[in-house]
Amino acid sequence: VVAKEFNMFTPGNVLKWDAVHPSRATYNYSKPDAMLAFAQANGMKMRGHTLAWVNQNPSWLTSATWSADTLTQVLKDHIAAVVGHYKGTIYAWDVVNEAFIDGAATLRPNVWSNVLGRSYIETAFRAARAADPATLLFYNDYNIETAGAKQDSAYNLIADFKARGVPIDGIGFQAHFLVNADGTGAPNKSQLQATFARFATLGIKIHITELDVRVQTASPTTSALNAQNQAYNDIASACFAAPACEALIVWGVTDSESWIPGTFPGWGSALLFDGALSRKSTYTSVKSGIGG
Ligand code: XIL
Repeated sequence: VVAKEFNMFTPGNVLKWDAVHPSRATYNYSKPDAMLAFAQANGMKMRGHTLAWVNQNPSWLTSATWSADTLTQVLKDHIAAVVGHYKGTIYAWDVVNEAFIDGAATLRPNVWSNVLGRSYIETAFRAARAADPATLLFYNDYNIETAGAKQDSAYNLIADFKARGVPIDGIGFQAHFLVNADGTGAPNKSQLQATFARFATLGIKIHITELDVRVQTASPTTSALNAQNQAYNDIASACFAAPACEALIVWGVTDSESWIPGTFPGWGSALLFDGALSRKSTYTSVKSGIGG
């Protein structure tokens, strides 16, 4: 199904720090290498995810006390090694993930910002560009698909990078959407169009990086299921119509291996295929959104 229905994918976990860099001196590329071989065998692009994030970090990184200089070197070494390993093969990297907190223009506390403040973001992008001049470098976040302080934080970060010549090629909108029983909750098409137009003025690419639209699974209402289809159609058509929007990636293939039920109990049915690998109505909604 992956090879037939998609022409790009993102490994969900195997390029995160805890998986790829289990001790300071050890890197483990076996799983992402196998995924890259699958991508190449099937003519697909692979995205890289992710080089600096709050979660899924190894304890050797999170439990040590670091000086600023040493921690900066640890970040540079990781990026040189991992991006270097995939030089010329990985199409685009989510370099920094989820750097800002919800609802405010505030840096999210994490292993990097706690010691380095905002500087870790620039360090990561410069190191990624040095390790692979051709791969596309993305800032990736959630809850930035509609206007607000968090979206402004991402916009201001990229505008500052562009003004100062710090390398960055794109913005990743994770797009983890939900619809409530009454059908409310997901961004509408005009909000998404306004967002894409705003970021396109920065001269960067737009990827929808982790799309899913969850509903309450106990007894999904007709309003919720209709709104879910509308949400999928809206983001697909808004992306398709925006010249800067070049990729739409869903966060998982089937509802049975989606992260949603484990992370948001009571919610699910968020993807395009059911557990039997059959296309759902959400699949048809995306397909019509991108011109049938
Ligand atoms: C999720 C994975 O899908 C899960 O398997 C894992 O247990 C936790 O992380 N934002 C991101 C992704 O950028 O890396 C997260 O992926 C989902 C939220």
